[in-house]
Amino acid sequence: MALARITILISGRGSNMAAVIDAAATGRIEGAVTHVISNRADAGGLAYARQHGIATSVVDHRAHPSRDAFDAALAEAIDRGEPDLVVLAGFMRILGADFVNRYEGRMLNIHPSLLPAYPGTQTHRRVLEDHGQRHGCTVHFVTPDVDGGPIVAQAEVRVFPDDDVATLAARVLEQEHRLLPEVVGWFCDGRLRLDAGRVCIDDMVK
Ligand code: GRF
Repeated sequence: MALARITILISGRGSNMAAVIDAAATGRIEGAVTHVISNRADAGGLAYARQHGIATSVVDHRAHPSRDAFDAALAEAIDRGEPDLVVLAGFMRILGADFVNRYEGRMLNIHPSLLPAYPGTQTHRRVLEDHGQRHGCTVHFVTPDVDGGPIVAQAEVRVFPDDDVATLAARVLEQEHRLLPEVVGWFCDGRLRLDAGRVCIDDMVK
């Protein structure tokens, strides 16, 4: 079977993107990252993608007069790469329902909390403010409900009394870098799908 084509959307550093690129480059997943798209030209992750010979595009949200116009330009850029899977990896724009529905069942997001707890931004700070004892990350299918789509997998970390945002974020990020490539690998193997809104994960057949 041909390798699954993966397009990754980023807005910044791109360390989750890099984890997927590395997993694909070393054959740990049966997929190829063929396109990286950022809504910011200064996203650090773009250089990493280019160094790995991956096509990159910038679709700047500020260059579009409305969210619909931005979504349309983004969809055009994505579709040019004919991806099997679209991965939102630190992509910091809210996407409209039409856009999201277009990629139903083939768009995943990584979020730094144990959803449904702490949707939105500043998750590490909010967990610390609430004196939470557990935190983590979630990979889910993207639906128009922001951070509310069907959950595929989660990884949990402990919160220690002396944690600050930086130490907690680093502990979660380590899990993100493990979990995201793993879930992307399931999708590329054809083991993971969304069936009438429910997540199905087949047993490993290899
Ligand atoms: C990650 O924590 C991701 O879960 C969140 O934003 C951060 C992006 O980091 N949405 P990076 O760009 O992947 O390094």
